[in-house]
Amino acid sequence: MGYKCIQVDTRDHVGLVTLHRPQAMNALNAELLRELVEALAKFDADETIGAMVITGSEKAFAAGADIKEMRPKSFVDTFRDDLFTPEHNAMLRVRKPIIAAVAGYALGGGCELAMMCDFILAADTAKFGQPEINLGVMPGLGGSQRLTRFVGKSKAMEMNLTGRFMDAEEAERSGLVSRVIPADKLIDEAVSVAAKIADKAPLAVMATKEAVNRSYETTLAEGLLFERRMFHALFATADQGEGMDAFIEKRSAKFRGE
Ligand code: CAA
Repeated sequence: MGYKCIQVDTRDHVGLVTLHRPQAMNALNAELLRELVEALAKFDADETIGAMVITGSEKAFAAGADIKEMRPKSFVDTFRDDLFTPEHNAMLRVRKPIIAAVAGYALGGGCELAMMCDFILAADTAKFGQPEINLGVMPGLGGSQRLTRFVGKSKAMEMNLTGRFMDAEEAERSGLVSRVIPADKLIDEAVSVAAKIADKAPLAVMATKEAVNRSYETTLAEGLLFERRMFHALFATADQGEGMDAFIEKRSAKFRGE
């Protein structure tokens, strides 16, 4: 597919994107971000793919936005070009679930990219942090907002203000990651979890992702109503009949995405 900064692969109906800028700890430059959102959009449109995994290397998921690329920019450049906004919004438009499989450093934009995914599986080597404060700036892709919602104000404030890293064990304890996995098993486990999701009814999966994400944007009453209406709507799908028949007939369901 001719990508320079990422590698793409498919396994068991899962789209796997591996960030690949080894010389720069997978720092997120404009080219990598452009390729990443293009690859995700392609997987999202591909009917044979049911979920995606984004991963990096053993050393680094991603060590943040590319500092060397950002250094010469002025306020005028960043504001006029709306730095990172198109890529951020493109990530949020992906309707199939994305798992971040994080080993090594997930710092700055790397931590923020992981938090933009639907959940994070961490290797026991993972380190999360928002060290932008050390560069005389602050997070620009959700580090002050999403991290606070994941781990609470106190920890998020400390990490944002001091640049302290959080290891995998603390990240699991704080609710930033769903599970910690031995580093040598991370990718296989992430792909296997994504494959399990890909095996479920696609419309129910998309509706579930939308409903959980809605809980961040709305009141409890509105969120509960949204959930219930989506639940009702799924009774219009053939997969609801198939899923319930399969349970009653003690067999596995064969979902068709209809
Ligand atoms: N941008 C550009 N290059 C980076 C980079 C980054 N974010 N992170 C690492 N690199 C490069 C280094 O410059 C180095 O390149 P050279 O060999 O050409 O010098 C190479 O990757 C290896 O890095 P180190 O030698 O520093 O490796 P290390 O093992 O000693 O340290 C590290 C690893 C702790 C991740 C360290 O590289 C580091 O602190 N990186 C920067 C982390 C950071 O500040 N991230 C926030 C960026 S700003 C941001 O993300 C804004 C936002 O919210 C969107």
